[in-house]
Amino acid sequence: MKTNLESDYYITPSIFSTERSKLFSTTWQLLGPLSLLENPGSYVSDDIAGIKVVAIRGQDGILRAFRNVCRHRGAQLIADGIGSCRTIRCPYHNWVYDDTGVLRHAPWFGGDSDFSLDQWPLQPIHIQQWRNLVFICIEPHQLLLEQLGDTEGALDDVLIEDYQCVDEHRVEFSANWKVYTDNFVEGYHIPGIHPEFYAAIDFEKFSTTADKGLVSMRAPAKEDLFYTGRWYWMWPNWTLSLFNGGMNTSRINPLGHDRTELIYHFYFEQDHCEDTEFKANTIARNLEVVRQDFQICFDTHQNYVSGNYHPGPLSPRHEQGVMYFQDRYSLIIGTEKGN
Ligand code: FES
Ligand SMILES: [Fe+2]
Repeated sequence: MKTNLESDYYITPSIFSTERSKLFSTTWQLLGPLSLLENPGSYVSDDIAGIKVVAIRGQDGILRAFRNVCRHRGAQLIADGIGSCRTIRCPYHNWVYDDTGVLRHAPWFGGDSDFSLDQWPLQPIHIQQWRNLVFICIEPHQLLLEQLGDTEGALDDVLIEDYQCVDEHRVEFSANWKVYTDNFVEGYHIPGIHPEFYAAIDFEKFSTTADKGLVSMRAPAKEDLFYTGRWYWMWPNWTLSLFNGGMNTSRINPLGHDRTELIYHFYFEQDHCEDTEFKANTIARNLEVVRQDFQICFDTHQNYVSGNYHPGPLSPRHEQGVMYFQDRYSLIIGTEKGN
């Protein structure tokens, strides 16, 4: 019998620091749709478990990514968000980098024969495209395709390239990112937490498979359900759900050991892109289901904090995804507990 992770893993600040260096820095992280980075100068500045990064398409057409940190005294160069620029000027002391990361000016620095601009470029990180999605990685331990594993085959028939990203939503809640992940990778909680969703699917036929980087969940829709009955979670922290007329992706990003943000992008088929009401309604229904999970995650996290919980058994029928996530997590972090 498999049991849940011990609560220490969810509540200990030092474990979050270990996760940042051993897990979030070494795995490919979903940044968003390629459409945000199509034009020269366009950039996406974002946060990976507290590590600031920026992806930018240079005037030479090449997509690059950097640590979003000035080489001088470490200021964040570009505020989180999207935009367009030709050069990157540090807001602190006005050092200027070009869009290939080379330091071009260090104004008022003064004479120092040991200092030369070419020794202080921005620190590059890895960036790669898979289909129409952009991923970045600080220190990859695997190729992106290796990390994606079974994801490629599972999404073969999904016309991702034909979808257009129309909206981004960020939602935050107070629970450890693994409390939320455990919750996302099982459908066991649907009857308890999502009664309308439960009524609209044949729950007896809900199936979960977990292997090679992918947890795949399926259920036949009984009634008019906006989902198409296919939900995916990919190691270590992104999701893709199909709905009628499109799909959403999300990245589960820890903001601390007890706070998490979900970065959602909503994509629609071309046929629906002009239908403002359809899009707004679909996005609202998706986010409503997402938000239904926050309270139970918060309450569960609080029970872990209080020391009032000891690991319980995981369901062989419904919690294979939880076992898969926790097994892979433990391979990386398990031996680090208590450090
Ligand atoms: S920290 Fe960027 S110029 Fe000083
Ligand atoms: Fe849920």
